[in-house]
Formats: sequence, structure tokens, C-alpha cells
Amino acid sequence: MRSHYCGELNDSFIGQRVTLCGWAHSRRDHGGVIFVDLRDREGVVQTVFDPAKKEPFAAAETVRTEFVLRVQGKVRARPTGTENPHLRTGKVEVVADHVEILNRAEALPFQLDEADLSEPVRLTYRYLDLRRDVMQKNLRLRHRITRMLRRFLEDRHFTEIETPMLTRSTPEGARDYLVPSRTHPGHFFALPQSPQLFKQLLMVAGFERYFQIARCFRDEDLRADRQPEFTQLDVETSFLDENGVMGLMEEMLRALFKDVLGVDLPDPVPRLSYDECLRRFGTDRPDLRVSLELVDVGDLMKQVEFKVFAGPANSPAGRVAALRVPQGGELPRSQIDGYTDFVGQYGAKGLAYIKINDAAKGRDGLQSPILKFLPDDVIAGILQRTNAQTGDLIFFGADTAKVVNDSLGALRLKLGEDLKLSQEGWKILWVVDFPMFDYDAEAKRWVALHHPFTSPKVEDLERVDIDPANVTARAYDMVLNGSEIGGGSIRIHRVDVQEKVFATLGIGPDEARAKFGFLLDALRYGAPPHGGIAFGLDRLCALMSGVDSIRDVIAFPKTQKATCLLTEAPSTVDERQLRELHIKLRQPPEKIPGEAT
Ligand code: AMO
Ligand code: AMP
Repeated sequence: MRSHYCGELNDSFIGQRVTLCGWAHSRRDHGGVIFVDLRDREGVVQTVFDPAKKEPFAAAETVRTEFVLRVQGKVRARPTGTENPHLRTGKVEVVADHVEILNRAEALPFQLDEADLSEPVRLTYRYLDLRRDVMQKNLRLRHRITRMLRRFLEDRHFTEIETPMLTRSTPEGARDYLVPSRTHPGHFFALPQSPQLFKQLLMVAGFERYFQIARCFRDEDLRADRQPEFTQLDVETSFLDENGVMGLMEEMLRALFKDVLGVDLPDPVPRLSYDECLRRFGTDRPDLRVSLELVDVGDLMKQVEFKVFAGPANSPAGRVAALRVPQGGELPRSQIDGYTDFVGQYGAKGLAYIKINDAAKGRDGLQSPILKFLPDDVIAGILQRTNAQTGDLIFFGADTAKVVNDSLGALRLKLGEDLKLSQEGWKILWVVDFPMFDYDAEAKRWVALHHPFTSPKVEDLERVDIDPANVTARAYDMVLNGSEIGGGSIRIHRVDVQEKVFATLGIGPDEARAKFGFLLDALRYGAPPHGGIAFGLDRLCALMSGVDSIRDVIAFPKTQKATCLLTEAPSTVDERQLRELHIKLRQPPEKIPGEAT
């Protein structure tokens, strides 16, 4: 139907006849002459309808925005002074001599170039939202990224293999999406939270190098970087240790960033231990673009009379940390109060601070509500350790280590943004040496920090069941600009170790048999040493596209409430379907807000 794309025309086409197909992006009536900007996947070109050419002109008069047109005409240079330097096709226009209206369009619920579109409107009419240039760019970039990753892995002899969607629970720490079985009353499939167990079985099967662009399903609280269904670039290898996997994966990311963005990521990618990350940044996914760091001062506070500090300083689970803000002395009281409220969201009960008005004057050069509680040597220790300079401000957090890490870690990022203490560009790192287990105080049991198939470090194997707190995992996460873009580990390939880890997690032999019997069996039949990783493809694409939410790189995402506004899923089903599935509802379904009646 077409000879060229609208967006590809430029002055090298002048004099040529072209046939174009696309959407009427806009229509302007300029005292007799009608201009229609015609848009297709490659861009926009101006078409001109002259009243002298009666038939096309009459048709153009009826054209409205987003009509679908087929336009034939000749490319000519735009008259001097009317060129549009912002447009790739801005030097030319197409003088139409024939136009076909292929389809009409009703007035759109919003203008495609409207600045502040609300998300509900965008998601309800997603097919229109996706017409917008920015969304077209995001999804095409995603395609380029996926293609590039696939090629890289193919070149290194990875085999792409699909694993089941209808399966049984794969524990990654979230709730499962369940699918009732019609043929087996009372039985349910679970949608995979990841292909974890299948990819391990593929290693037992001898494929050695597997990958998959895999859809994963997790019923968890949603945020800007979490969707109930999302995509992983899932990788597994045999006979590589953690250095082998990390080395190969960072090579892949370096190639990706070079190819797609022209950016050189560091070689090697720096590594930080989990402990160091928490100590310096309060989180295991630090944004290294922000220069601020937490500094421990607990040892200085053990004897002070200020209970708020002395308490956590003397408690094994406590932490007292300082965060120096260069030139933060200028912060007005109101802003400090704002930050106090901010850290309150993370459980902090306050936010003590010291302003350094004159570092040379010692105590007399300082200003703070807590100064009276602190002896001279403690003050000197704080100033020295934080390297505080005149004009700075030091914030303090004192609580359980978790509250201090969460609150000061978040404050660090907020200050980085508010005070422009964040560099441009890309900061990537591996986080390594994760603890194997985490104690869930509420449930009174150990849980796996990654997943229960992660191998402990060899030197910790004997300790697994007797001293779980001090077992380190052979796990690694990749963090880019403060976002966890990937995580993986070397797996357990010995059945005795796997059984021991299950036991530590409170999964007894019967439960282990019932849930993971197939894995335990497979480990008995010559399972090679293996390990891998999964990248959050949506997160990676969002970062590389420069958007804040992964919803902007997913064609048809769910809302924060895990609904699809376009199709109005999830929906009720009729009684007959329920009966077929042997399901009786405990209560009539509630109406979902926003659902059509
Ligand atoms: P993990 O649970 O860390 O590891 O997931 C890997 C990566 O997937 C991304 N991710 C998500 N992205 C969007 N929405 C979500 N709800 C979501 N949850 C996770 C993150 C994360 O780093 N089987 C292991 C991998 C392995 O050990 O090989 C796994 O799934 O970027
Ligand atoms: P108060 O004695 O409660 O008035 O607290 C004195 C200062 O210590 C105030 O600036 C509080 O914000 C701060 N503060 C109180 N509790 C904590 C805490 N757990 N961590 C850090 N600072 C705190």
C-alpha cells in the first residue's frame, strides 16, 4: 500500500512521487491550503492539500486527527522560511494529489501530545497511549535490548529453552498466582515465580548453558519497579563458579550498554560485600551516584548519658550512625523537620543533628539540641570520624540496625536528590557475600535470603544447621544506580547439602519430599556443579530508557492494584465455569473500584 515511510523522507527525495500510509497527526487549515501532518512508525511528514486539486482537497477537509490515510503525491522542498529544524523531515513536504481515507477516528479521549496524562487514562486506552512517540521509543529500545542480549548469549553457545507456565509453587518469597485444575478437583497449578527449578533440572539434563526470556508471576505489593507479571532474562550454566558467571554477565552488560547507549561500563564491575553495603549505605542496593555515606559512631556512644544513643550503642541488634551532609549547615529548621518526618516513615523515632558553624572552635563552634548530652571527647571523635568541615551538618540515627539502615539509607538518597549531591551517569556494582539466612522474628524461624537452592560457601558447609546466622551464600546481585537489576547464585548440587538447608529452614523431610522430591531425586542422578542469574528485564529497560516506572517499558502493564484497566481483568466468571473448576466462592465477589458496571 505504501512506497515509503513518512518519517524517512528528506531532501534527497525531492521530486519523487511517494505513496504514504499513516495517521493524521494534526490538520491545519491555512486560509485555503490544508496541511496534514501524516505520522507512521518512522515519524511525521507534512502533506499539503491545495484547493486547486479539488478531489483530494475535499477529502482533506473531512479529515480529523487520527484518521488513517493513504496519501499519494510528490515530495518538494518547503518554501524558504517554513522549514522545521526540529523535524527530521522538516525540509520537505508532500503535495498530495490523491488521498484515501482508510478509516475514520472518533475524537480521542486525550491528545497524544498532552503533557500530564493521568495513568488511569493512559492504561485504559493503552493502545492510544502507545501511539505516542515516547512509548514507541521505549518499546523499540526494549526490543533492541532483548535482541542484543539474545545474540550475545547465542554467540556464547547458550540454548534458549522454554519452561512451563503451569507448574507448582517455586519459592522466590512472594505469594503464588494459582490456576485451578478442572481435571483434578481441588488441585491447583501455580504460575512460576521464576524458572529456578526447571533451569537447574536443565543443568542436570546436560545442556550446560541455558537462557530464557521468561515471564514470571509474583503476587506481592506493587511499586514503581514491581509488576505482578514481569520478565526475566534467566540464565543458568554448569561448570562455572561465581567468578565465571559474574565475569560472563558483566561482559554481556558492557556489550549491551556500549551497543545500545554508547556507554562504557567499568571492567571489571566493582564488587562490594553485603556487610560493607549496609555499613556505608544502609542498603544492599546502594546508589553509588550519591556521595554521602553512613559512618558508625556507636562505639563512641556507649557511655553517653543520652539514652537515645546509649541504648542502641550497647545493644547487639542496635546501631548508631552518622550521615555528614557537606554544606548542610544552611538547611533551614523547617527542612530538617521535614527530614525528621521523612525518616519517621522508616520507623525512626527522631533525627538528631549537629551543625558545624566553625570546625576550628570545637564545641563552641557547633549548634545542636543534643550537644549538652555529649562529652568533649565524643564530640571530637564524631567530627574526626565524619571528617566534618565548617558549614556541614551531621545527622544521626540511633535504633535497631534495621531502622537506622532503612531510615538513613533512604535519607541519603533524598538528600542526594534535594541537594544535588548525585552524579550523572551509570554506577554499577556487584553485591556479594550475602548471608545465607535471615531470621524472621515474627515467624520465629530462619528464611533464605535468596532462595533455598543457593549454595553456602564451601567453608561454611559444616555450619549450616548449627550456626545459620554466620553462613555466607555464594550469591551475587547486580545493582545499577540503586536498582537491583539482577540476582543469582551458585546452586546446591549435593543432595545432602540441600536436605540440610531445607532442615535449617524448618522444611522437614516429609515436606521436602512432597514439595521438592523431584529436585532431590535429580540431584542424586549426577547433577553437575551449576549456577546462574536472572536479570529483571523490565527494570533494565526502564533504566536504559530513563523512565521512572517499569510500566513505561511494558506494553500492557497492571496498575498498582494489580488490575488491567484496559481489559478490566481480573473479572468475575460465571457460575458454570466455577462449577467446572469445582470451586465455590466463600463470599460474593467485591466490586473492583473503577470496574464498569
Ligand atoms: P530474583 O527474585 O532476585 O531472583 O529475581 C531476579 C530479578 O528480577 C527482577 N524482579 C522483578 N522485576 C519486576 N517486578 C517484580 N515483581 C520483580 N521481582 C523481581 C529484579 C530481580 O533482581 N530465580 C532467581 C534468580 C537466580 O537465582 O538465578 C530469581 O528469580 O530485577
Ligand atoms: P528528644 O530528647 O527526644 O527531644 O531528642 C533530641 C534529639 O534527638 C531530637 O533532635 C530528636 O529528633 C533526636 N532523636 C530522638 N530519637 C532519635 C533516634 N532514635 N535516632 C536519632 N535521633 C533521635
